[in-house]
Amino acid sequence: MRYLIYYSSKGGVGKSTFAKISHLVLADNNQKKVAGDDTDPQQHYADWMSHHKNLVSSEEDAEFFIYDTQGAHTAANAELLTAACDADAVILIPVKPSNDDLKEAQRIANRLTQLNIMDKAIFFLNGCVANSNYSNYRAELGKLGKVARKQINNRKAFAEIPTAREINDVSALLLEVLI
Ligand SMILES: Nc1ncnc2c1ncn2[C@@H]1O[C@H](COP(=O)(O)OP(=O)(O)OP(=O)(O)O)[C@@H](O)[C@H]1O
Ligand SMILES: [Mg+2]
Repeated sequence: MRYLIYYSSKGGVGKSTFAKISHLVLADNNQKKVAGDDTDPQQHYADWMSHHKNLVSSEEDAEFFIYDTQGAHTAANAELLTAACDADAVILIPVKPSNDDLKEAQRIANRLTQLNIMDKAIFFLNGCVANSNYSNYRAELGKLGKVARKQINNRKAFAEIPTAREINDVSALLLEVLI
């Protein structure tokens, strides 16, 4: 089983949004068996799964297991990341193009390096403006670890039922990071 962990100690960067759409893309568009869990007390992804039971497999059957995490440095997140050391896991870290996000990315990289799992981590830019150049952010993130080529633009709304554009965005990101 492959684990897909959306992690960032910064809040509001897109973890829950991407957990939900990744589940949809893998289970619905790609007919994979997908299970998931949530270390966030807000339970956004867990709630989504409870409303999409037809797309949720049992943990035993699942080919992919998605985790949404709380946007803070918590004991539950530390436990999950420690367990990810020995698993086939990809840790996806959404980063918005801002200096505060870059500072937090540095802290995240330090933490993951201490846990010896930085090699499983991939940063990706979310909330970008179309046709803008983010090479400066890419360069800074690149000093810390891997950065996905796919970047996600800011859309008016990432709806509960995502549009074809959002599905395409997440499909391209997953294709890049899962192969
Ligand atoms: N690319 C985007 N374009 C427009 N809105 C976005 C985008 N990505 C995320 N959002 C919106 O930003 C808000 C925060 O996203 P989300 O809840 O997924 O973040 P989070 O990292 O899970 O936050 P928290 O740490 O509080 O759990 C949501 O309203 C979501 O719809
Ligand atoms: Mg969330």
